[in-house]
Amino acid sequence: MRCFNLNPTAAVAAVAFLSALPTAQAGLYTKSSPVLQVDAKNYDRLIAKSNHTSVVEFYAPWCGHCQNLKPAYEKAAKNLDGLAKVAAVNCDEDENKQLCGMMGVQGFPTLKIVRPGKKKGSKPIVEDYQGERSAKAIVNAVVDKINNHVKRVADKDIDTFLSTNNETAKAILFTEKGTTSALFRSLAIDFLDVVTFAQVRDKESKVTKLFGIKSYPTLVLLPGGDKDGLVYQGEMKKLAMLEFLSQVGEPNPDPAPAKSKGDKKSEKKDKKDKKGKAPKASPETTSTTTTESSEATEVPLSSESKPKVTEAAPPIPAITSTQTLINECLHPKAHICVLAFTPAAHGETAEKALNSLSEIAFKHAQAERHLFPFFEVHADNDATASVFKGLELAGEVELVAVNAKRGWWRHYEGDFSSTSVESWIDAIRMNEGPRNKLPEAIIGEVIQESETATEKPVETVEVKLEEDVKIEVDTESETTSWQGAEPTPEATDAPRKHEEL
Ligand SMILES: *[C@@H]1O[C@H](CO)[C@@H](O)[C@H](O)[C@H]1NC(C)=O
Ligand SMILES: *[C@@H]1O[C@H](CO)[C@@H](O)[C@H](O)[C@H]1NC(C)=O
Repeated sequence: MRCFNLNPTAAVAAVAFLSALPTAQAGLYTKSSPVLQVDAKNYDRLIAKSNHTSVVEFYAPWCGHCQNLKPAYEKAAKNLDGLAKVAAVNCDEDENKQLCGMMGVQGFPTLKIVRPGKKKGSKPIVEDYQGERSAKAIVNAVVDKINNHVKRVADKDIDTFLSTNNETAKAILFTEKGTTSALFRSLAIDFLDVVTFAQVRDKESKVTKLFGIKSYPTLVLLPGGDKDGLVYQGEMKKLAMLEFLSQVGEPNPDPAPAKSKGDKKSEKKDKKDKKGKAPKASPETTSTTTTESSEATEVPLSSESKPKVTEAAPPIPAITSTQTLINECLHPKAHICVLAFTPAAHGETAEKALNSLSEIAFKHAQAERHLFPFFEVHADNDATASVFKGLELAGEVELVAVNAKRGWWRHYEGDFSSTSVESWIDAIRMNEGPRNKLPEAIIGEVIQESETATEKPVETVEVKLEEDVKIEVDTESETTSWQGAEPTPEATDAPRKHEEL
């Protein structure tokens, strides 16, 4: 199940965390997490072009199910260390939205297993992971998808195997098992085109006799040419085996080295990398989000909002005149607005809907997440009823999202619970779900109203999620308005006014 519900305690924790750690990342995973943090810039290099298999979580930090997944995902990352890449992409970051859209992400969290295509240089194979959200299930699914470059060699094949490319080093694992372990497969990937990997079963008596194998498993390394074979004496552990095999050739550079190599061996490997083709640093050092997130903590949120966090969410602003509605949401350049049409005298349903919206707005504001504005509009007020009728709405309470600039509107259908409303809001954020054509008649021209309304320019970023559809996300303005911050001075092409809160 995918969900977008943010539980309030997590929001509080997130805020407390941000203010406690000035350099904290806005993402769900910290720098010390075993989960590899990937963004649009390094996705190709670290995931798409990797010879290894990866599991990638596309997430949003405010999503409750993503937060719930985190411990299991980190555990999976530890278990898969050195075998496969366990990565996460924060789809809430503007720079990653296009990537998430291109990957077909429609909800959070979305897990995809990415592995190299069969032919060299072909596109990676991407599959959705739909299994259980436990470390064990994820690990098993990923292990299943680690490409196998290990040849099975039987008695009848051994002569051909040994004489083919006889100058190339060969690693032969003698084993009682009929399957190839993830560990051996991952080593074969590390040494692709450097060392040829093979596996021989104990029952292949001709080969086992030829090599004088007495116990299983036994790893034999043939350096190539007429050099003598070497028998591995160590434990069947990745690092030690990697080092043993490195005697005959360097493994391929790993742009995202396993975290557990943070010991002396890894340093050695890193140095080698630098000498060689120098894969550019690990993702931590190339991350550009550090400055952004440290700025984020300087926003009044950190100091002022702490006591506020426990307070109830403030109600969403109400719009009482058609002109205000036009100025806010229904002029030709207006971006997404969510309108809650309710009777002026709130019934139970209206209260439920408005509470859901104010909670969602508040959570996003607390987490400093950009979100389009929400307004309450009275459907039974003569001044604003025209829009309600223009959209042919009839319910006692109706939630709609309008995007005048793009000429669409979306209709909410559900029980008005915050979970259900939040899923709908998130669908809009992801630009999914059915939309209707906005009747042109309800779009009007901005007319400046009384001086009581404060001028509030809105900075917008266009986020391309699909080839031909764009959604707009309002930056800053909505979140800062809850904090009572000054409007940003930059002029934009979409001047808007805000009701006083
Ligand atoms: C390697 O193969 C070449 C021809 O394929 C052969 O001449 C040579 O003797 C072989 N070397 C060994 C050590 O088997
Ligand atoms: C992937 O494997 C090829 C050999 O097939 C190697 O040349 C290349 O360097 C490897 N790439 C990475 C990123 O390890």
